Amino acid sequence: MAPRKLAAGNWKMNGTLAALAELDALARDHGEAGVDVLICPPATLIHAMSSRAGQGIAVGGQDCHAKDSGAHTGDISAPQLRDAGASHVIVGHSERRTDHAETDGEVAAKAIAAHKAGLVSVICVGETEAERDGGQTLDVIARQLAGSVPDCATAANTVIAYEPVWAIGTGRTPTGDQIAEVHAAMRDALVRRFGDGADFALLYGGSVKPSNAAEIFAIPHVDGALVGGASLKASDFGPIVAAL
Ligand code: G3P
Repeated sequence: MAPRKLAAGNWKMNGTLAALAELDALARDHGEAGVDVLICPPATLIHAMSSRAGQGIAVGGQDCHAKDSGAHTGDISAPQLRDAGASHVIVGHSERRTDHAETDGEVAAKAIAAHKAGLVSVICVGETEAERDGGQTLDVIARQLAGSVPDCATAANTVIAYEPVWAIGTGRTPTGDQIAEVHAAMRDALVRRFGDGADFALLYGGSVKPSNAAEIFAIPHVDGALVGGASLKASDFGPIVAAL
């Protein structure tokens, strides 16, 4: 079975209640677009977004704790995200790996917690510029995939996002060949580990915008995108959804 196509927006630490107007505009124009559309807003907006039912747009968290509850000030658990109406959660984003020193093992533990709570995990991997310049890209991706994707991952509960760190928010994107090389390597590694039937959706993320989305979506094994800045406005994200 071919992987499902997914256009996912990561709003990061942007947006207040006023931004719900962007969700409404996106739903009006692209809610029935025939592809899965996901918005991961700040946690403060998850419940408000998921309460606007019938819009054909899924809502996700940007991170979760590996434990279900407890003394972890400022953290949010997977069951809490689920309770707020989320269906997905991003784990292992490079900003979490950098800002909070998250390891592959911790990312895998978060993905397990997400699956246990009934959430789809969107597990992020990606090399730094120094790693790419040093010819280590495929090794880094292989290591992150092996360590961050838990054994309980299936195509139904897990999406993988390849986000080269140097392409995030910079306006720079890898060449089509570079994206193709990494996505093919990820597909191979996943098939080797999980078998032929494991059709995980593989997203590309990093400076995706309306002007380059169609070209990126035409690359083999690219099943969608994880979009940051260009997901904040329906007028930018809508055309990306439409290009998928
Ligand atoms: O998770 C999405 C992201 O890191 C890409 O951000 O702003 O380059 O699209 P951006």
